[in-house]
Amino acid sequence: MRIVLLGAPGSGKGTQAKRLVEAYGIPQISTGDLLRAAVAAGTELGRKAKATMDTGQLVADEVVIGMIRERLSQPDAVKGFILDGFPRTRPQAAALDELLAEIGQPLNKVINLDVKDEEIVQRLLARGRADDNEATIRKRLQVYAEQTHPLLDYYRGRHLLAVVPGMGSVDDIFKRMQAAVA
Ligand code: AP5
Repeated sequence: MRIVLLGAPGSGKGTQAKRLVEAYGIPQISTGDLLRAAVAAGTELGRKAKATMDTGQLVADEVVIGMIRERLSQPDAVKGFILDGFPRTRPQAAALDELLAEIGQPLNKVINLDVKDEEIVQRLLARGRADDNEATIRKRLQVYAEQTHPLLDYYRGRHLLAVVPGMGSVDDIFKRMQAAVA
């Protein structure tokens, strides 16, 4: 099973991805987690990425595409994967198509978790990650609307998109996710 999780920051992509990992035994691949690991390791890439992430902007396409290319080449991705937070731009979506065509593993489903902005702001303020202050959250929402939301039409046009309401309990949302991938 090869799934992309779209959805605004704080819509629950990471939370639901972990449930999907348990249910289907395939890895979660989160560009946000990969970038935070680089930040924690103090690499040059991490130092540059942190400055971008702290403002709520997107890290350069070539950086995240390179990370995904490397990660998808690892053995555990052969049986499937859940992409969490990638792609987020049209060039990233095009690069993913190209990469998956090369390895003969097309996507099965793209799920958009749909949550109202005000609920998102409340969730993220309560979490308090480094990029979870109100100004950065609003910027992340704006960047999502401008650069990532257009991907819904891109995947809808290819009959891959399922929109899952992302409000309510984690368990109820997960049931909707399972129905969407069934
Ligand atoms: P990333 O790490 O991907 O963060 P994000 O998209 O902003 O998403 P979050 O992790 O904040 O939220 P989520 O949707 O996973 O929700 P979660 O389950 O955690 O990206 C961070 C930054 O890295 C970007 O801004 C960018 O700079 C860079 N980056 C990453 N990928 C990139 C890419 N492809 N290209 C370029 N740059 C990239 O839930 C959020 C909170 O809500 C949690 O506290 C959770 O417990 C709670 N919650 C979850 N579900 C519910 C529920 N049903 N009810 C109530 N609370 C809930």
